[in-house]
Amino acid sequence: MKNLLVTGGAGFIGSAFVRHILRTYPNYHVVVFDKLTYAGNLNNLKEVASDARYSFVQGDIADRHTVEQAVKDHQIDTIVNFAAESHVDRSILTPDAFIQTDVVGTYVLLEVGRQYGITRFHQVSTDEVYGTISSGSFKEGDALEPNSPYSAAKASGELMARAYYETYKMDVVITRGSNTFGPYHYPEKIMPLFITNAIDNQPLPVYGDGKQVRDWLYVDDHAMGIDFVLHHGQAGQVYNLGGGNERYNIDITHQILNRLGKPESLIRYVTDRPGHDRRYSLDCTKLHALGWKPAHTFESALQYTVQWYVDNEWWWRPIKDGEFKEYYQRQYAERLKTAQA
Ligand code: NAD
Ligand code: DAU
Repeated sequence: MKNLLVTGGAGFIGSAFVRHILRTYPNYHVVVFDKLTYAGNLNNLKEVASDARYSFVQGDIADRHTVEQAVKDHQIDTIVNFAAESHVDRSILTPDAFIQTDVVGTYVLLEVGRQYGITRFHQVSTDEVYGTISSGSFKEGDALEPNSPYSAAKASGELMARAYYETYKMDVVITRGSNTFGPYHYPEKIMPLFITNAIDNQPLPVYGDGKQVRDWLYVDDHAMGIDFVLHHGQAGQVYNLGGGNERYNIDITHQILNRLGKPESLIRYVTDRPGHDRRYSLDCTKLHALGWKPAHTFESALQYTVQWYVDNEWWWRPIKDGEFKEYYQRQYAERLKTAQA
């Protein structure tokens, strides 16, 4: 592996992966291929912008011509596909872009990868493809029962990747990551939304009863887990990649408020997300047996993350003052009007 195409590398996890790879492998070249949707942000890549081993191509993974050009121009041998529409609530409001990017875009990357003899294709998938589980934990062989347009699109993308392994013997690996948090997280997701709202003394809109469970994974651990599977995973295999930190949403909410010294009166219980998955839980025995475990504890990573948003308003304030405002109105205005404290 020498020349990596990192699609979606200007997003939250993709940019952490790019920073990690350039720090870790002196001989690797990284080409970020990103459409720069509302979620893509070149500020996330400031740290590597002047690194000679890094290049940026603006393009859509569903546009075959641009993908081919990037693969040819940069003699790409490895593709790591982070590019996706990634927010469940937006997939409920407007599913189209999810099908286009997460399904069609993944297919285009696989097809170009096959044509140009890519030596490894890593599909970044999600624990949401399994659907919800009330007790126990999902194993890699369990059925996929996705419940939102987002998770159904992600499941379709990874099934196509699987098919390219089975049919064309393309070297494909898949990771199913759990809920990720950390710096540079677009403030539509619960952690950065609640931290930045609390900083501004704005309400924190908790869906339903707040007793949904997510398994939290620090972003650098997610990046390192992907690096590990990229280098050590077996072709055709799927790996669960979880943090082992299951928490109720309401507990996360309390922790954020406590760490910022803000009052619990900011909490609002609002109308639930339709089709809301109650609990995610991953059995990560397979990846642990291969030799990978997360390096960060949840508590220290959460503390670092909260402080990062306090210290880095330059990053999130322009986002919240921009496109995000319109989305926030659409998603929350009615909910907050009818909310319960
Ligand atoms: P993100 O929304 O922060 O970033 C997505 C990136 O993809 C952005 O830079 C965006 O501009 C780019 N993009 C979107 N459509 C594109 C297109 N058509 N062509 C090229 N680029 C495009 O997402 P994230 O949270 O960093 O998630 C990255 C990947 O990890 C996604 O595939 C997501 O499904 C998966 N994942 C995320 C989490 C999580 O908790 N955030 C957990 C598990 C898996
Ligand atoms: O599990 C992995 C997935 O985690 C990734 O595949 C997705 O890309 C990522 O967005 C994330 O999905 P979730 O839907 O779990 O994340 P989100 O931050 O949107 O919501 C986390 C939980 O918090 C969920 O139970 C819904 C709840 N929530 C979320 C928001 C935005 C609220 O209660 N209020 C909110 O305003």
